[in-house]
Amino acid sequence: MSDEFDWEALRQAAVEVSRRAYAPYSHFQVGAAGVADDGRVLVGCNVENAAYGVTLCAECGLVSSLHATGGGRLTHVVCVNGAGDVIMPCGRCRQVLWESGGPDLLLMTATGTRRMAEVLPDAFGPDDLEAVRGA
Ligand code: THU
Repeated sequence: MSDEFDWEALRQAAVEVSRRAYAPYSHFQVGAAGVADDGRVLVGCNVENAAYGVTLCAECGLVSSLHATGGGRLTHVVCVNGAGDVIMPCGRCRQVLWESGGPDLLLMTATGTRRMAEVLPDAFGPDDLEAVRGA
């Protein structure tokens, strides 16, 4: 299934957007690219802030773009650093991606394709809220 997907094209999209990163403090540029279930390609780059903790990760931009351009679910995501190497989303961004892709979202990692359920096991998510709603 994932063998037919053009991961290299998606990685290239991530590399391109990583060049737009605003990272004057860490000098660590990140690009994230994803595909939505209707085939749209979404991208995002990190945007740092003088108040360091306010920094927006590249994945946040990607997910914001998903919603800003029509919503849907993410099916494939890859993140790269400024050298174009595939990197793992930070813990917070795994949670952000989970919300828009769930357990079946495929993530390209340095060691191959993995489902979100594998990189964020036993995740907290919308189902947990649903479980207690009305209780
Ligand atoms: N960064 C991301 O954009 N995504 C991640 O998943 C990891 C970290 C950014 C945040 C900060 O601008 C820089 O990388 C260094 O941490």
